[in-house]
Amino acid sequence: MSNPKSKKDSVNSDKELPAGPRILVLHGPNLNLLGTREPKIYGRTTLGDIHTMMEARARADGVQIESFQSNGEGELIDRVQAAGSEGIEFIILNPAGYTHTSVALRDALAAVRIPFIEVHLSNVHAREDFRKHSYFDDIAVGTISGFGAQGYALALDAALTRIRRP
Ligand code: DQA
Repeated sequence: MSNPKSKKDSVNSDKELPAGPRILVLHGPNLNLLGTREPKIYGRTTLGDIHTMMEARARADGVQIESFQSNGEGELIDRVQAAGSEGIEFIILNPAGYTHTSVALRDALAAVRIPFIEVHLSNVHAREDFRKHSYFDDIAVGTISGFGAQGYALALDAALTRIRRP
């Protein structure tokens, strides 16, 4: 996925969606490179593969799922703010590098008060010290870290359970 904004490869879904609960999956910087980016750490699964897997799973439950990836902090904040007025019920978030730096993205999530699960492909606690601190984990419903692409499926299962029984 060389260009996250290209129509062909994009996981940034803007097509018309049927009615039903909505989950937003937010991917931070460099996650557009999944598949080729440090595969020993992040695996070979692409962001497109992850989106396809999540969409199939959510659809089977009558839930709409939208994915948005950006390398820009401001774009991610704008997407979270928009989610606040769009009736998004749940967010699954991999803030990537912004996990460890972004007070502003944290503030956006706190402002819209949409429950969210923090996901990391790698086990951030088994890596460099600077990855051990998250600006999100204390306001998240929970964190899933270290299960590779499967972490998104685990997060989706948890989100679906929450949507059904808040
Ligand atoms: C990551 C872990 C972060 O520390 C890193 O900056 C990423 C990906 C993960 O999914 O393991 O970009 O969020």
